[in-house]
Amino acid sequence: QDAHAWSGRFSEPVSELVKKYTASVDFDKRMAAFDIQGSLAHAAMLTRAGVLSEADLSAIEAGMAEILQDIQEGRFEWSVDLEDVHMNVEKRLTDKIGDAGKRLHTGRSRNDQVATDIRLYLRDAIDHIVTLIAALQTSLLDLAEQHADTVMPGFTHLQVAQPVTFGHHMLAYVEMLGRDGERMVDCRKRVNRLPLGAAALAGTTFPVDRFYTAQLLGFDDVCHNSLDAVSDRDFAIEFTAAASLVMVHLSRLSEELILWMSPRVGFIDIADRFCTGSSIMPQKKNPDVPELVRGKSGRVTGHLLALLMLMKSQPLAYNKDNQEDKEPLFDTVDTLIDTLRIYADMMRGVTVKPEAMRAAVLQGFATATDLADYLVKKGVPFRDSHEVVARAVRHAEVQGVDIADLSLDVLRQFSALIDDDVYAVLTPEGSLAQRNHIGGTAPAQVRAQIARHRARLQG
Ligand code: ARG
Repeated sequence: QDAHAWSGRFSEPVSELVKKYTASVDFDKRMAAFDIQGSLAHAAMLTRAGVLSEADLSAIEAGMAEILQDIQEGRFEWSVDLEDVHMNVEKRLTDKIGDAGKRLHTGRSRNDQVATDIRLYLRDAIDHIVTLIAALQTSLLDLAEQHADTVMPGFTHLQVAQPVTFGHHMLAYVEMLGRDGERMVDCRKRVNRLPLGAAALAGTTFPVDRFYTAQLLGFDDVCHNSLDAVSDRDFAIEFTAAASLVMVHLSRLSEELILWMSPRVGFIDIADRFCTGSSIMPQKKNPDVPELVRGKSGRVTGHLLALLMLMKSQPLAYNKDNQEDKEPLFDTVDTLIDTLRIYADMMRGVTVKPEAMRAAVLQGFATATDLADYLVKKGVPFRDSHEVVARAVRHAEVQGVDIADLSLDVLRQFSALIDDDVYAVLTPEGSLAQRNHIGGTAPAQVRAQIARHRARLQG
């Protein structure tokens, strides 16, 4: 059994159960490469400040290079006795290089060390996530482009409302994901600040140059208060909130894909490789991936709540509570990355069924608003034209036909201002074409938005 770094203070070893309960190495070992990166920067800074010798630094660098390689090649033996990633790495370093390894922890605490590791880890994860969000946007843009003219019903209250194009509908998600990406980039600014130098909580008696360490690690700034540096995890909460929003957006899209794929609706099909069958019902092809995304959005949102509750009521500065930040954070990162990757792929496997979408538009009085607008353009106040059209819709509903199927004579019973030209605005295509302004669903506008998004993604 390895002696603890603090065993001098204790008269008996911790119990086995406590050891297991307090150890974090099983999950925090994933930060090992960042832990080593942080240690190397700290050692370089201490050497520059004259606290460590050049010989110490060389030994630390050589030892850490070997350790990193051992970890990457799966040879490193992690010990629960050594509690966490930090002490596992430090102990191995000391075994390899002796006293220089023991000097590494000068002017540092695991409190500022772990806060630094998480930030390095999260910064890296955010950069990956930002590229995956862009890749999913590209996948949606490709689908939108194929269907810039494809008519589908737009819904409110899950009832047919007005015609839109499928491309326009996909672009709504491109917009949401665009904001999600912006949130990630914005959150990264606050992640990218250096806690090292805060030591346990009060700073250190050694002449640390924190800006130098920050520069070596690519941080934009240092945390300017040592108590805050070691104790707050707001940056992780912020990230998890941004991640939750991505998941919530994808959960909404998932819900739509599931509805659209239902044989009762039949708007789309999803490639077999993203679906599974039933062990009992031979006819089934289930949209498992979107359903799981919908489920996992609850899991990630749960992690957000876990982190908020973890922080709530913690007195300054560091408390062991904070060790509980890692599992929710790591699971959020893993879940989000897998979801974004699979989603970009899955959207390429979506087949749209334009006939079914068009048929639904024609059954839902989707162009009633267009008729009301038509009358307004002939001089009828909108509230009156709304009333006129509502009566025409009721009549058509009783007849079991669409308003576009009513003869001109019948239509003129509701308003004498209606002429032959009305049929052009009552078709789905006529309805779309008239919404030709920025943000509108006219195919020309959809194409313009696709071009705008593509230019931004390339820029
Ligand atoms: N494993 C710990 C964590 O994740 C490292 C810091 C421990 N510091 C302490 N004083 N117990 O937060």
